[in-house]
Amino acid sequence: MKKPVIAIDGYSSTGKSSISKIIAEKLGIVHLDTGALYRGITWFALQNCLDKEGEIDLNKLFNSLQSIKLEFKRENDELVLYVNEINVSKEIRTAEVSDHVSLIAKQKEVRDFLLETQRSIARNEGVIMDGRDIGTVVLPTADFKFFLTASIKERTKRRYEELLSLGLPADRNQVKENLIERDRIDSEREISPLKKAVDAIEIDNSNLTKSQTIEAILYHLKKINDFY
Ligand code: DC
Repeated sequence: MKKPVIAIDGYSSTGKSSISKIIAEKLGIVHLDTGALYRGITWFALQNCLDKEGEIDLNKLFNSLQSIKLEFKRENDELVLYVNEINVSKEIRTAEVSDHVSLIAKQKEVRDFLLETQRSIARNEGVIMDGRDIGTVVLPTADFKFFLTASIKERTKRRYEELLSLGLPADRNQVKENLIERDRIDSEREISPLKKAVDAIEIDNSNLTKSQTIEAILYHLKKINDFY
C-alpha cells in the first residue's frame, strides 16, 4: 500500500506547518517542517559560529555542518526539534533566529547538507513536507503539490499571535518587516528560490480559516483513494 508524498510550499506564515501537521495526522503519514531545520542550523550558528564583531562566520558554520545532529523527537504528541541533543523548539522561533535564517538558508553548503536529510525521510514512507523548495527541488516528483499564499496583513497577524502564544516578545511592525524581508531574500536567492512549482495548486488563504484551508487541500487529495 503506497502512501502519498505531498509538498506544501509558500510564503512565511501562511500556515504551512500547522496545516501540514493536521493533514499528516488525518492521513497517517509523517510531517516534516523543513523551515525548522533551517532555523535549527541558524540557532546553532548564532550559538557557536560568531566572529569578533558578533556576526555569523559562514566558513566556521560550513566547517561545523557535519557535526550538527538534527533530530525530531515526539513529545506530548508534538514533534520537537533537537540540535545536538538540545531541545530548541522555542529558541528557533525567536526574532533573532527569524532575522538571520534567510541569510543561512541561501548558502549552498547549508542547502546541500539539508537536501539529503529531507529526501531520506521521504524515501520509504508517505510524507507531507512543508517549506519553500519542496515541490521544485526536494521532492519534484511528489504526488501532490500545493503553494500557499496570503496577504501580508493576515500573515503578520498570524505570526504575531504565534509569538505571543509561545510567550516570546513580539512587535507587530517588526514582525511585518521580517516577513517582507525574508520573502524577498527567499524568492531572490540563486539556489532553490521560493517559487511555485508549475504543477502546484495555489491556494490563497487570506480569507480562509485553518480548517477551510485543510478542507481545500483534502478536496484535491480525494485522489488519495489511488493510494490505499
Ligand atoms: O517556514 P519558516 O518560516 O519556519 O522557514 C524559515 C526560513 O527557512 C525561511 O525564511 C526560508 C528558509 N527555508 C528554506 O529556504 N527552504 C525551505 N524548504 C524551508 C525554509
